Amino acid sequence: MEPPFDSARWMAFFDRNRRCRPEPRWDAPISVPAEARPWLDRSLAEFQLGDGGGPASLIAWDVAQLRQRDPGMARAIDQWFEEEKEHSRLLGGLLRRLGVAPITGHWSFSLFCGVRRWLGVRFELQVLTLTELSSTAYYRLLRELGQDLALRDVCSLILRDESGHLLFQGARLRAAGAPWSRWRRWWWRAQFRACGLAAATVLWLSHGRCLRALGATRRRFFGEALRQFGRFLRRVDGLPADRAGRPQCVAPSATPDLREPTPSGRVA
Ligand SMILES: [Fe+2]
Ligand SMILES: [Fe+2]
Repeated sequence: MEPPFDSARWMAFFDRNRRCRPEPRWDAPISVPAEARPWLDRSLAEFQLGDGGGPASLIAWDVAQLRQRDPGMARAIDQWFEEEKEHSRLLGGLLRRLGVAPITGHWSFSLFCGVRRWLGVRFELQVLTLTELSSTAYYRLLRELGQDLALRDVCSLILRDESGHLLFQGARLRAAGAPWSRWRRWWWRAQFRACGLAAATVLWLSHGRCLRALGATRRRFFGEALRQFGRFLRRVDGLPADRAGRPQCVAPSATPDLREPTPSGRVA
């Protein structure tokens, strides 16, 4: 049987992560193709708002129930949100560097907050998890295709954090009883994949122009997003995230110190 959610361990993990945060190379020369600039500027401004720039806490109408039921988990969730706020700060640094003004609203952000607020805390946590999975696909492509050093450093830091966040989400679901009985598991996975596809589609609608300007294709983005969903579902089932059984390293060779042991002692 899966042990209960170990909130103390996760809080120590987030504490350690907070102390180990090399700053991106903000002073490096800007290196973004001119034709990609307008799309990248807009995309980063939207992400700066959506990735930790909004409400940095759970906002579902019934969140008080979770806080009452499991105060330890609620505190770990608060720390996870602190890390999300840090993503907004990093993206804000990129905006300043590129001379782009931050934005305060966007249709996809309003949709994101509305769904989180009105559909209950369990669904809010799922929406946030799916956003993290889709965003991982976005940041991975941005890091690979964007040549700017500060941009790549920011993506590496965020990807390192998101890797830990997804382990956190998996541990949370397993403590809640996942992978459950056969039919419940089938239903849960089906709805998770359907909602995941919706989340990835919303992301592509807003950021596809930017990714295409940098050389990505829709097929590549959705392929990466589906791969992330598959890895996560395997983890929820208690299987290794990658079929070969090896944990995947998200840190680039240029910044090797971003590798961070996970609470289970492995490198994410
Ligand atoms: Fe984030
Ligand atoms: Fe995250």
